[in-house]
Amino acid sequence: MHLNKKFPGKRVVITGAGSGLGRALALEFAKRNWNIAIAEINNERARETAEMVKQEGGKPLVVHCDVTKPEDLDNVLKKVLKEWHGVDILINNAGVASAGWFEKIPLEKWDWIIGLNTNSIIHGCRSFIPYFKERKSGYIVNVASNAGIASLPEMASYNATKAAAISLTETLRIELSASNIGVSVVCPTFFKTNLMDQFSSPDERQRQLADTFFGNAKVTSEKVAHHTIKSIEKNRFYIITQKDGRNMWRMKRWTPELYFKIFGLIYKTGFFDRHLVKLLKVLNVVG
Ligand SMILES: NC(=O)c1ccc[n+]([C@@H]2O[C@H](COP(=O)([O-])OP(=O)(O)OC[C@H]3O[C@@H](n4cnc5c(N)ncnc54)[C@H](O)[C@@H]3O)[C@@H](O)[C@H]2O)c1
Repeated sequence: MHLNKKFPGKRVVITGAGSGLGRALALEFAKRNWNIAIAEINNERARETAEMVKQEGGKPLVVHCDVTKPEDLDNVLKKVLKEWHGVDILINNAGVASAGWFEKIPLEKWDWIIGLNTNSIIHGCRSFIPYFKERKSGYIVNVASNAGIASLPEMASYNATKAAAISLTETLRIELSASNIGVSVVCPTFFKTNLMDQFSSPDERQRQLADTFFGNAKVTSEKVAHHTIKSIEKNRFYIITQKDGRNMWRMKRWTPELYFKIFGLIYKTGFFDRHLVKLLKVLNVVG
C-alpha cells in the first residue's frame, strides 16, 4: 500500500539523519511531504538535513539525540508527541563501523560499538513500543547490515552488533504482529556515506580495505533509501537492498557448509587481498 495511505499522519523519526542513509531516508520522506524528526548527535549536520528536507517539501523537526543514552530516545518520543500529537514510523538508523583481527580489538571498542549499533536499537524500540502498542499501529525499521548475515573476516565486532540487530528485529516481527505493528530490518552491503569518519580498527590494513570498499561502491545512499521505503510499503521484513547481498544471503541459507568453505578458501589463499577490486566487480559491488 502507498506509504501516505498506510500512514496518513505522515510522521517519521529517523536517528542519525544528519548524514548518509539517514539523510537520504529523510529526503525520500520529504518528497512525500512527511513530518521528519532528525534525531542526531551532530547538531550542524542535523540542521543541514533540516534545510534540505524543507527544500524537498517535508517538515523537519531537529531533536538532539545520542542513541547510546536511553533517556534521549524517551525525550525524542516526548518531543514528537508534543509537536505532532503522534508518530507513525521509527527508523533506528544511527550506527558506526569497525574492523580488526578478533584478538586485537580492544575491549573498550567492543563496548563502544555494541553501545552504538545494538543498544541504540534496543533504546529506540523500548521507548516507542509502548506507544505503538497502545495505538495498535506503527512501524519500526532497524538498520542492520549484510555484515550481520555474511560474517566476513576481520569484522567480528561490527558483524556481531549487526547480527544482534537482525535477531532482535526478527523477534519483534513476530511479537509485535499481535499489536498490528510492522517491523523490518535493512541489510545493505557497501554504499558511499560518511561511515568512515568514525571507523575504528586497530590496524591500518582494515582501514585501507574499508576505504577500497566504500570508495569504489557504486550504490548510493539515495538508492538504498528508495529501496527501503518501497519495501516498507510492501511490508517486507528482510530489506536486502543490493544484489551482492541477496546472493550471499541465499548462498549462506541454502548451502551453509559450502558458504564457509568457499569464503574460508578465498581468505586463506590471500585471493581476497590480491584480487579485491576484481572480486568486487564480479560481485557487482563496484563500477
Ligand atoms: N554505508 C554503508 O556501506 C553501510 C552498509 C551497511 C549498513 N550501514 C548502516 O547504515 C547506518 C547509517 O550509516 P551511514 O553509512 O549512513 O553512516 P554515516 O556516518 O554517513 O551516518 C551516520 C549518522 O549517525 C550519526 N550518529 C553517530 N553516532 C550517533 C549517536 N550516538 N547518536 C545519534 N546519532 C549518531 C552520525 O552523526 C551520522 O549523521 C548505520 O547503522 C550503518 O551501520 C551502512
